[in-house]
Amino acid sequence: MTGPHLPPHPMKDAHATVTRQMMPQDANPHGNVHGGVIMRTVDEVAGIVAHRHARRNVVTARLDRMDFLEPVFIGNALTLTAQLCYCGRTSMEIMIDIHAENLDTGEVVHTGTAWLTMIALNERGRPVPIAPVVPETEDEKRLHELGHARYEARKKERVPG
Ligand SMILES: CC(C)(COP(=O)(O)OP(=O)(O)OC[C@H]1O[C@@H](n2cnc3c(N)ncnc32)[C@H](O)[C@@H]1OP(=O)(O)O)[C@@H](O)C(=O)NCCC(=O)NCCS
Repeated sequence: MTGPHLPPHPMKDAHATVTRQMMPQDANPHGNVHGGVIMRTVDEVAGIVAHRHARRNVVTARLDRMDFLEPVFIGNALTLTAQLCYCGRTSMEIMIDIHAENLDTGEVVHTGTAWLTMIALNERGRPVPIAPVVPETEDEKRLHELGHARYEARKKERVPG
């Protein structure tokens, strides 16, 4: 259901990684990293993947899911890895994996996952068709199939504007 005349892009090219060291200004009142700081970085890396795929301005339509699995500490290097899973006509589903590294010890902990839906916009700020994304490996095909199922479920859940 993507733009009919746009050449497809391989899924292996539709990813991005961002690493940031968590600083004292990123803390919540308990001294760990504030969830909002992580969510902002999730949105940033998802935006990079979507913009890179669409080669258009993009906006976040929905934070589909966000799981905070373990706390993140000040001083940790937080790495977010984002992958485009599925494209609708104008929408893109991005999955993000989050890992925190203790730079003193090298220990790496899987601290979270997230799924976002981003929309490509034209010059007038309206949704615009994007290129399809093509899964090649068996893992990519599985991601794409699950992404398609979630896309159909999202359409049924949409809140009227
Ligand atoms: C996202 C936005 C452009 C959608 O506009 P719209 O008129 O509802 O768009 P349409 O009904 O034509 O739908 C366009 C696509 O967006 C998807 N979509 C729209 N709202 C959605 C939502 N809440 N969740 C998931 N997908 C959504 C539709 O399913 C459709 O996907 P498809 O083309 O791949 O099938 C509009 O709601 C908007 O501008 N929102 C604000 C975005 C923003 O400012 N984000 C930053 C906030 S910090």
